[in-house]
Amino acid sequence: MFYRRHQSEVEKQCCGNIPETERGPVITFSSQVEEMEKRSKGERGGGVSETGKLRGGTDSRDLQSSSASKANCSVRDDTISAALLDNSHIPMATLADLCSGLPVNPLPPPKQRDPTLPHAPVRSHTLGPSGKKQAIRNALRYFPPETHAVLAPEFAKELALYGHIYMYRFMPDIPMKAYPISEYPAKCVECAAVMLMMMNNLDPAVAQFPQELVTYGGNGQVLSNWAQFRLVMHYLSIMERSQTLHMYSGHPLGLFPSPLISPRVVITNGMVIPNYSSRDQYDNMFALGVTMYGQMTAGSYCYIGPQGIVHGTTITVLNAGRKYLGVDDLAGKIFITSGLGGMSGAQPKASVIAGCVGVVAEVSYEALKKRYDQGWLMEIENDLDSLMQRMRKAKMSKEVVSIGYHGNVVALWERLVEELELTGERLVDISSDQTSCHNPFSGGYYPVQISFEEAQKMLADPSQSNYFQGLVRESLCRQVAAINKMTDAGAFFWDYGNAFLLEARRAGADVDKKSTNKNGETSESEDSLTFRYPSYVQDIMGDIFSLGFGPFRWVCTSGLTSDLDITDAIAAKVIERISQGVSSKAVHGQYSDNLRWILNAKKHNMVVGSQARILYSDWRGRMEIALAFNAAISRGDIKGPVVISRDHHDVSGTDSPFRETSNINDGSAFTADMAVQNCIGDSFRGATWVALHNGGGVGWGEVINGGFGLLLDGSEEASMRAKTLLSWDVGNGVARRCWSGNSNAHYATLHAMSYDPRIKVTIPNQVEDERILNSLF
Ligand SMILES: NC(=O)c1ccc[n+]([C@@H]2O[C@H](COP(=O)([O-])OP(=O)(O)OC[C@H]3O[C@@H](n4cnc5c(N)ncnc54)[C@H](O)[C@@H]3O)[C@@H](O)[C@H]2O)c1
Repeated sequence: MFYRRHQSEVEKQCCGNIPETERGPVITFSSQVEEMEKRSKGERGGGVSETGKLRGGTDSRDLQSSSASKANCSVRDDTISAALLDNSHIPMATLADLCSGLPVNPLPPPKQRDPTLPHAPVRSHTLGPSGKKQAIRNALRYFPPETHAVLAPEFAKELALYGHIYMYRFMPDIPMKAYPISEYPAKCVECAAVMLMMMNNLDPAVAQFPQELVTYGGNGQVLSNWAQFRLVMHYLSIMERSQTLHMYSGHPLGLFPSPLISPRVVITNGMVIPNYSSRDQYDNMFALGVTMYGQMTAGSYCYIGPQGIVHGTTITVLNAGRKYLGVDDLAGKIFITSGLGGMSGAQPKASVIAGCVGVVAEVSYEALKKRYDQGWLMEIENDLDSLMQRMRKAKMSKEVVSIGYHGNVVALWERLVEELELTGERLVDISSDQTSCHNPFSGGYYPVQISFEEAQKMLADPSQSNYFQGLVRESLCRQVAAINKMTDAGAFFWDYGNAFLLEARRAGADVDKKSTNKNGETSESEDSLTFRYPSYVQDIMGDIFSLGFGPFRWVCTSGLTSDLDITDAIAAKVIERISQGVSSKAVHGQYSDNLRWILNAKKHNMVVGSQARILYSDWRGRMEIALAFNAAISRGDIKGPVVISRDHHDVSGTDSPFRETSNINDGSAFTADMAVQNCIGDSFRGATWVALHNGGGVGWGEVINGGFGLLLDGSEEASMRAKTLLSWDVGNGVARRCWSGNSNAHYATLHAMSYDPRIKVTIPNQVEDERILNSLF
């Protein structure tokens, strides 16, 4: 029985293996409550030292609910491989210590930020003295009053230096990474899975700014501060399958009773009243520590390193070649783009897999070097003259190569225009941009007029904020002017879901789509969703999403490469089988692309962090792959549980009018019912955890998105959960896209209804005679 044995391990590891004197007093939330109760009854002292007994969270209430939940999960217990239970070789004391609550007596020594790691830009806010006091008061809520005199000035300093209180003192000492699931001191395997996923999101090899708890996208927080991290780990270690942990924008509100089928964690990030969703309001709320930007898979603990985006980017580049250049083979074609950060760092690797010359501009040497060291970027050029020569050579010889240009992308675009004007040679075939324009004024977009270092200094000085914003706007206009010249000469450009066109429009750049009337007069389109260039969702991904295909992913929680190999083989077999019976050419094409991908996935050596994989599939493929994994776990072929999940950038999970839903044309692109319904629907159909976010991808206030994680442990129950959850998780968005008039989604909906007669979708009628409408207006 996994849970029982595991729990006794936990108790031993938490208390038995550590001499009392070395454990150090640790205070937990429940002990703080007890302490407050004692104080209110006039009792003195004892609170902090009492709490030492709570290490590992084995108070009587936990043990009672533990036996109740064990009765419910005997089937699952037997399915866990015995191999996972051998914990003798691992540093359990350290993980147990991490999960033992917030250390306050004594406080851990103050910690400096690690200068060898990249750090988040200073966050801007406009809090005055009372707002700053509120931010510190808010932060101190996690700590007992006797620590406040020490912590308050420290937090004030962090707020002044970094624009946010990260509580660096509480950063754990244990190396941050996804440990095999059996190593986590948890009472239920689902909670151990959440710990693993969360720690993976904070692994320095994975995360963009690990010490600021940012996984990707410049500001995609896992949590808001390190006290929250310790408390969440503690809650996850003590909770049962009869409880749910509720997460409010990084803040663990607490554990509440819930039925077995419920998610064990419910996460909301950045939820605000719609009228209070401006960027400035966000900045202040983040500084106050009351909200945070969870991006997509950062705040929902489902990031799997840049591999996820490599797959999506490869598909996009390949399909861009087909759509814009009319070729399947991209040899000798040049793809120009920018950004080598969390997501954008996938671009050079994807360019090589797609078989073209990928040239990526990046202002940060740290970011560039990281991708180079990782082997994802093949060459670095610092000088535009030699870059031009190198590009020409690669184009002529049809070399497949990725080149990082260390410099500003605007400088690169302007140089490409110069080359065109001087030589007539257009050194761009397809192009895009992946700077973090969803967050342009806080370090997401570096203006060309100043150096990277100067920009960093300016970002740290709130008095320069307006000036800096002006530089960003001017730089965006210059970039667009150069892009326009190149596209007039025959190059293709698309918006890569980073709000580039949206911010460029706001900056006054020439990005609006011109429409020509029957008299040949041009005017700007009335439609605020339409730009001169398409979003990659409008032109490429939209049709794929509408068929129900999206970024299905999984993590082998054993941490074993052999498990990942087995899952790759299973997924390939399932896809091959399904695709043989598919009549639609479009669906067949998607399955074939993904079969090729999964057969070669290992070869591309893309695992960074947890043993994870991604592929695109529709609901049937996702479901059948999940069921096949579950059966293999049950047989013991796969040695540990598998977490299935997806990017929020998917058919159903995200309402984002400038990206995921930019091909919704019935006027509903600005509604967010789909994403909210998705999260609610997943939550009662068996998800192990669910998340709903404001912001993500294109920016705060511009998108609502959500996701889930589901643990497959080989049980019947897990199969049941996977079937119902995945059917809804994909079907919701397909049905909505069908209702909006998309023909691919119409096809996919009819297909789903014929497969499962319990699915009944309201199918739209079309206005066949436009004259009826034209006669009205
Ligand atoms: N297309 C997709 O599928 C997809 C998926 C996720 C995110 N995104 C969006 O793409 C953007 C990038 O995401 P990320 O995670 O890589 O962000 P990131 O902040 O980690 O990386 C962006 C990089 O751009 C660099 N940069 C900024 N301005 C520059 C300039 N003018 N010239 C050259 N380099 C510059 C930064 O130094 C940074 O390294 C975000 O807006 C994100 O929301 C797109």
